[in-house]
Amino acid sequence: MGTEEQGGHKTAGASNIAPATGKLGVMVVGLGAVATTFIAGVEAVRRGLAKPIGSLTQMGTIRLGKRTDNNSPLIKDFVPLADLNDLVFTGWDIFKDNVYESATHAAVLEKDLLVQLKPYLETIKPMPAVFDQYYVKRLSGVNVKKGKNKRDLAEQIRADIRAFKKTVDRVVVIWCASTEIFIRPAAVHASIEAFEKGLENDDIDIAPSQIYAYAALSEGVPFANGAPNLTVDTAAMIDLSKRNAAPICGKDFKTGQTMMKTVLAPAFKARMLGVSGWFSTNILGNRDGEVLDDPQSFKTKEESKLGSLDYIFQPELYPDLYKDLYHKIRINYYPPRGDQKEAWDNIDIFGWLGYPMQIKVNFLCRDSILAAPIALDLVLFMDLAKRTPSLRSIGIQEWLSFYLKSPQSAPGLYPEHDLFIQSMKLKNTLRHIMGVDLITHLGLEYYD
Ligand SMILES: NC(=O)c1ccc[n+]([C@@H]2O[C@H](COP(=O)([O-])OP(=O)(O)OC[C@H]3O[C@@H](n4cnc5c(N)ncnc54)[C@H](O)[C@@H]3O)[C@@H](O)[C@H]2O)c1
Repeated sequence: MGTEEQGGHKTAGASNIAPATGKLGVMVVGLGAVATTFIAGVEAVRRGLAKPIGSLTQMGTIRLGKRTDNNSPLIKDFVPLADLNDLVFTGWDIFKDNVYESATHAAVLEKDLLVQLKPYLETIKPMPAVFDQYYVKRLSGVNVKKGKNKRDLAEQIRADIRAFKKTVDRVVVIWCASTEIFIRPAAVHASIEAFEKGLENDDIDIAPSQIYAYAALSEGVPFANGAPNLTVDTAAMIDLSKRNAAPICGKDFKTGQTMMKTVLAPAFKARMLGVSGWFSTNILGNRDGEVLDDPQSFKTKEESKLGSLDYIFQPELYPDLYKDLYHKIRINYYPPRGDQKEAWDNIDIFGWLGYPMQIKVNFLCRDSILAAPIALDLVLFMDLAKRTPSLRSIGIQEWLSFYLKSPQSAPGLYPEHDLFIQSMKLKNTLRHIMGVDLITHLGLEYYD
């Protein structure tokens, strides 16, 4: 029937989603601060030592039917997601530290907790990585694969994935490694064939992250990207994703400052308040901060962080409000702060008759604490997409934009950055694949 509040679209039907039975293998590229906080956190939750706060898949609910129906199950009870107890972790890193050692070095989680988890964490040892310092200037490592060319390195990653696949039922790859230098899409990214030729010729525009992505997608494995690198946002990788039914999504975990930005900016726009300036600065002292201290890696991050405001404010539609917006982003490496980043935003807004006002946001956050639940949700939802016939072969999973600073959308379609539109899109996608009515929030039927 379709009530007015609901979209009335009866859709896909849950019965054709493959169940989440068996083990889900999670292959993490880069076992640094975010990855180890993610893995140790999952283990702590599995043992009942802590709650998975910040994770929509674990704590979120989804309303079904009318507001008067009182039917809001947990998301994990509504869609078939892998159980945390079924996650099996492995990964690659350029350092040989196991996950316990790396988590200790990252110093995000308290020593007491890590010691309790040590017997498990130290069993996860990184496989040798594909790495080249040309792409991350501030790092050099010892645990690195050798190959005669980039094609050979891709084959080695494919072999790692195939070997791990034999021990689990399904696999997802997630990039939690460092931010690479800024790379623009080039001819080598235009088609799968051009890319494969580029691998053979060691094309300079193919960075390590692209090699991992190519390997995962070639193996039919979903690939999520937590960093702002040019990785799967190319024609070649979109084609490969579709061809092999291996889902991809946008990039760069949307955690602190950008999350706040994509909440505040839609509020100003909804109320037709103008914005003349938005200055965002950060201090952070972890290894990510050190990598971003290099101008070429910073440029990659800056581009990713800059995108959101332009798309949200649509200055071409609202020139009086946003045409002259000055948007500036700074990231300052400041070792004493470690992973406990501090972000300041100064926002110059103007209202009725052009009168100016200011808003200051000071977010004292913990970078990896914010990123870990996003990594978990992306892994679980990418695995769901792979098991869902209506999603697995479409390539880009735009409904996962909710988690990402740089959402990816179909060529020619502008990306949606507004956190609440993203949240609604995500939940409606879940309703859609489960064959229940979508929710539009119209709600006139309550006043009949
Ligand atoms: N924490 C957040 O809030 C947040 C938000 C958005 C994006 N990110 C991104 O997530 C990524 C990870 O952040 P982090 O704080 O864990 O950084 P980190 O420096 O602690 O960890 C990155 C790890 O990746 C490894 N690495 C680098 N290149 C590699 C390669 N080619 N193959 C395998 N391993 C490689 C490094 O040795 C390091 O251990 C960064 O790119 C960061 O920009 C983090």
